[in-house]
Order: sequence, then C-alpha cells, then structure tokens
Amino acid sequence: MNVNTFRKFYHRPTKQEGKRLDMAERPLDFHPNQFNNFLNTLSQEDFICYPSEKDYESLNSKIADLNGIQPDQICLGAGSDSLIKNFFAIKSRRSSYFLSSFPCFPMYSVYGEMFDIYMEKIEFDKYLNISIDFITAKTNRECSFIVLANPNSPFGDYKNEHQLRYLLTFLKAFNVPLLLDEAYVDFAPSSYVQLINEFDNLFVLKTFSKAWGGAGVRCGYICSQANNIKDFRSIRDSFVLTGPTIKYIGWLIDNKQSKDQYVADVIEQKNKIDIELKDKYEIINGYTNWLHIRGNNSIQNKLDFLKISYKKDIEIPHHGKGWMRICVFNGLFNFLKYD
Ligand SMILES: Cc1ncc(COP(=O)(O)O)c(C=O)c1O
Repeated sequence: MNVNTFRKFYHRPTKQEGKRLDMAERPLDFHPNQFNNFLNTLSQEDFICYPSEKDYESLNSKIADLNGIQPDQICLGAGSDSLIKNFFAIKSRRSSYFLSSFPCFPMYSVYGEMFDIYMEKIEFDKYLNISIDFITAKTNRECSFIVLANPNSPFGDYKNEHQLRYLLTFLKAFNVPLLLDEAYVDFAPSSYVQLINEFDNLFVLKTFSKAWGGAGVRCGYICSQANNIKDFRSIRDSFVLTGPTIKYIGWLIDNKQSKDQYVADVIEQKNKIDIELKDKYEIINGYTNWLHIRGNNSIQNKLDFLKISYKKDIEIPHHGKGWMRICVFNGLFNFLKYD
C-alpha cells in the first residue's frame, strides 16, 4: 500500500439549509416535528455502549428487504467511500490496471494510487456518455476490475439493463469484476442490484448520503453474491456504524416517503428548469440531483452574494469552460428565472 497518496480535503463554506448546494446532499432539512420523532428514539446507551452485532444484523436485514435481496448479500460500511477502499484492497492485482470514466468520483483514483494500481481512463463522448464499447475495447485479462457509477458522476449518463447485461457477460469471460456505484440511483429509472443474483462478477454499491439525507452519519453498503460478500465482511471494521447511525438509518427507511418526495421534487424542478429556462442558460441535465449550467455572470454574482455554496469554473469535456454545478431543490427554478 502506498501511503504517499495525494489527497485534497475540502473545507465547506456552509452547511446551512438551502445554501448547501455543492455536495449533492439533501439541501432542505426534515420538518422539525418529524426530526424530533427520531431524536426521541435516542438513548444514552446509543452513545455510551459499543453496538451489538445483533444491531448490525437487524439493520442489514432491513436494508436487504429494501433491495429485495438476502441479508448475506450485503456488507455495511461507514459511507460507501469506505467500501470503495475495501473493494480496491480486495481486488487490486499487482502490475495491473482498472478502468473508470474520467472525470469521476475522485476517490477512485486516490484508492488506485493507494493500492498501486494504474487507472486507465475512459473519456466521455460529445454527448457526455461513456460508451460500453470504449470499456470493452480497453478490457483484457490484465484488468483487475471496472468501476462505473450508474448514473455516472458528474454528468448523470445512465446505462440501461440491456447495456449492463452485455457488459457483465463480456467481463465475465475475462473474469473481471464490475463495481457499479449507484450513489445517485434514486434519481434514475432503476437500480440493478437484482442482477447480483445472475452475475457473480457484479458488486453494487449504495449509500444513504445522497437522496436519503444521511451523509453526516456515514452509512453505505455493498451488494453481491454471498460468497463475494464474505471477503468484505472479513475485513469489515468491528464497530462499523455508530449506535446513533444505526437508529437514524432505520428511521430513514421507516420514513422512506420523505426520500421519495424529495426525489420527485428534484426531478420536477430539474425538468422544469431544463425545459423553461433553456433559452436563458445552457443546461446539462443528467440522472443526478444537480444541474450543470452556463449563463451570464449575474447568476454567479447572486449566488456568491447570498453565500450559497456550489461548484464553479468547471470545464466539461467537449463543452468548454465556465460551467457551474448546482444541486437542485424546490425553489431553484424561481431563483434562476428571476436573476
Ligand atoms: C459517485 C459517488 N460514489 C460514492 C460517493 C461516496 O459517498 P459516501 O461515502 O458518502 O457514501 C460519492 C460522494 O460524493 C459519489 O459521488
């Protein structure tokens, strides 16, 4: 393992409700009455005591039911980030390479460096799509694995079931696993977690950080056939989630309608902005909870003046510089329309 890996840490300008539009979390808080119902479930033991393995097992079963898979097909992690690291730890082979799109979630390349495995980059085409043919063309027996976010980050292109089956069948012939990162899947037509029952080379990664509203408590999970999951469980941290995290994630699942409502609101706003403001801005609208927008300076001045955090000065392959990336919530349409 290479510990001289180059990492950047990010100081957040704000976490304030409605202004945290930079890191793809839920931008609006839960209603205080609803959140107080959760707070009332907490006890001192949740903070004082180590969780019992039984607590992990019951959350694991709840997550399995949510996905329509078996409990032994899941391993929990402190955020999906920690499971990406474990995937690299388990699957990286010496003098080998992995494939991923570029740009991508930056931790893929950090863990590539850390586990000393070369990252072969797949470029986006002019439609900001990663072609399956580009992936297969670069795959051979030396390849340790493929990492693909679906929907992809940052442009939100999305592979359908037919494309994924084709890719998985192709990769199986080379004995190459696919890590399918579904961090943003709630904003897309469907998850492909069920395909783990058919393909033993598929690992699906999920998180409660994005649509669910749980980034602060750090909980993600990886799904695959039980035999593969044994490897992840054997290197799992002993107390992988905190007591309050276990309760919060259980509460989020019990209140799934809040997540569904937030997702519906985001999709409606994004589509409205895309259709009604397309004469005013250039807009890239993928299956994520943000938009890439390019327009005049006044919108950026307004965002900066209000101390809203978003990403700016982005360069997009084939589409040039000067883009911003902003998370979508109810109210963004009016904000952009009346700038
Ligand atoms: C594509 C993708 N995968 C994984 C993660 C990691 O999320 P977490 O560790 O909060 O589950 C992120 C976070 O931004 C992401 O964008």
